[in-house]
Amino acid sequence: MKAYAPGRVNLIGEHTDYTGGLVLPMAIDLGTTVEGTAVDGSAAAGGDVRLSSDAEPDDAVVPLDVTDPSAVEPPWARYVAGVVSVLRPATGFAGSVRTTLPIGSGLSSSAALEVALALALGFDGPPQDLARACQEAEQVASGVPCGVMDQLAAAAGVAGHALLIDCSTLTVDPVPLPAGVEVVVVDSGVRRALAASAYAQRRTECEAAEHALGVPLREATPADVARLHDVVLRRRARHVVSENERVRAIVGAFAAADHTMIGVVMNESHASLRDDFDVSTPELDALVTRLMRTPGVIGARLTGAGFGGSAVALVHTGSDVEGRRVRAAGGAHVER
Ligand code: GLA
Repeated sequence: MKAYAPGRVNLIGEHTDYTGGLVLPMAIDLGTTVEGTAVDGSAAAGGDVRLSSDAEPDDAVVPLDVTDPSAVEPPWARYVAGVVSVLRPATGFAGSVRTTLPIGSGLSSSAALEVALALALGFDGPPQDLARACQEAEQVASGVPCGVMDQLAAAAGVAGHALLIDCSTLTVDPVPLPAGVEVVVVDSGVRRALAASAYAQRRTECEAAEHALGVPLREATPADVARLHDVVLRRRARHVVSENERVRAIVGAFAAADHTMIGVVMNESHASLRDDFDVSTPELDALVTRLMRTPGVIGARLTGAGFGGSAVALVHTGSDVEGRRVRAAGGAHVER
């Protein structure tokens, strides 16, 4: 069996997925292929999933009855173990991983691996179920209580389109990218420090804000947010509520090819992530400022969880902007 899954870049809608909000990622034209064959051996008979990788020196060898994926070595094998622990394949599997994705620079290489592996192991079902299974795999592998965006973008990508995902229903609406616009990703060079604990803390803060408000953040209004007494919770909630609005606004701006509005909304998103959600870094702020001043750039913002990682910019086609150009690509599939 051979299966492929793309990485993703999120255009806007950051730290909204785990409160059932709106996100606008796109699957990209870089991704991961898992190829291999089923081998004899049940869990009781000591069967395992064995993979080599062109991006890693050491193989992943994961027993079918693995119990703690987060403790598996080498570290990349934790994602393999996460998928094994969620899917519990009946027999072993031996094969290889090839990837064109840079590892650890914010393009969801781990989600691509999980989704490609799940398909190679025979997962069969709608993209939403595939994404949910792989989200759980990511959580048990990394200890980060991530949302579903990365895995669903990898599972449901559509060439030439971003994906408007409603994370409360997991409906996916493909949104065409405006003509004359390209997507550029620039790595800040800062690896994510403390990302796991800080991410979990943001999630807890959002839950606390919802508890204090008595309504899900997805349904909260700016007036609701203003009623929160706790300053930190108010800022966190303000980010989420305004970010959901920005996703709607940019979808409208895409349809109208309103480049000015696209730029304004992206830059507001970055400011909100920096000032209210506290997930930017000085390097990301400097990078986004530099990008915004570069001729040809329509808008720029940090992308993904933050705390390091990459910025995304929308630029005029053909403009001379530093960084990696990515195209909106199709989603994960089995290759025969
Ligand atoms: C990471 C998580 C996603 C999402 C983003 C922030 O990429 O895996 O679920 O929460 O951060 O938008």
